[in-house]
Amino acid sequence: MRKKITLIGAGQIGGTLAHLISIKELADVVLFDVADGVAKGKALDIAQSTSIDGLNVNLIGTNNYEDTKNSDVIIITAGVPRKTGMTRDDLLETNLKIIKKVAEGIKNTSPNSFVICITNPLDVIVMALQKYSKLPTNKVVGMAGILDTSRFKYFLSQELKVPVKNIESLVLGGHGDTMVPMPNYTKVNGKSLNELIEKEKLDKIIDRTRKGGAEIIKLLEKGSAFYAPAASAVEMVNSYINNLKKTLPCAAHLNGAYGVKDLYAGVPVIIGNKGVEKIIELSLDKSEKNNFNLSIETVKDLFAAAKKIDPDLNN
Ligand code: APR
Repeated sequence: MRKKITLIGAGQIGGTLAHLISIKELADVVLFDVADGVAKGKALDIAQSTSIDGLNVNLIGTNNYEDTKNSDVIIITAGVPRKTGMTRDDLLETNLKIIKKVAEGIKNTSPNSFVICITNPLDVIVMALQKYSKLPTNKVVGMAGILDTSRFKYFLSQELKVPVKNIESLVLGGHGDTMVPMPNYTKVNGKSLNELIEKEKLDKIIDRTRKGGAEIIKLLEKGSAFYAPAASAVEMVNSYINNLKKTLPCAAHLNGAYGVKDLYAGVPVIIGNKGVEKIIELSLDKSEKNNFNLSIETVKDLFAAAKKIDPDLNN
């Protein structure tokens, strides 16, 4: 039987996800949005495009959680995106309310689903989603590290004039300005990055990576990035549905790993058909550890702010 993927939020990222999933014939797609017409309209448009390539997928749009029942995967982008000058944290109050409603909607209809959250501020929203829905922590995960890593790799490929596919890398920590690109875990054509780039240029690229989302928001003038975020989530879905057991940087629930207790943050994990099957604990040098801990502190502070907004998060 074909798999079923529900996309909660049929905006820029949701629509792009639906298109990518269809092109790859990964699963049937349910586009859910409170803006019913947007979900239905995008589903119909993409469904019509499938007859051109003869793609074998079904798409529907809805605002009824019954239609999302027994989804294998749910990807959540419901919420508002940033505007120019806003940080992801500025979205907290609005998106927290939205995510509470979404958690109510999915917890009984798709209790066995693998749930990927994209809504920002990512680490805190995915943590709230898990707490509200009470779905198992290995089945609730956030998309950020793949996106941040893809930005880092792209900037490096431009600087070093090397195809992106020849670069392996990793970005850890929270999905914000304190994210931690990892030059020591970056290889270009198998060689250590540190041998190939001057410190000053690398620092600039790290800074541009941290501000990668804001750069796009400024250019677009309306809305935030959507192609790369959608492609990043599809990478996670593919590893789950096809049990590829890829190691991917994701916002995962840490309960001891990296010295962190009961918090979501970006670390490498193995994704297979059981969800997050393993957290990979890398050894970090002193400066990486400091940067990682700083990033963890910002996630903790923001979650404390979320608890003040909604005391239910204390449960
Ligand atoms: N249930 C379902 N959908 C909702 C709800 C809700 N309670 N509230 C809002 N939405 C829908 C909106 O109607 C809109 O269609 O979520 C969609 C969000 O789409 P966009 O505004 O286009 O935002 P997008 O660029 O897709 O980003 C969504 O992902 O990367 C993050 O920061 C970004 O938090 C933002 C999210």
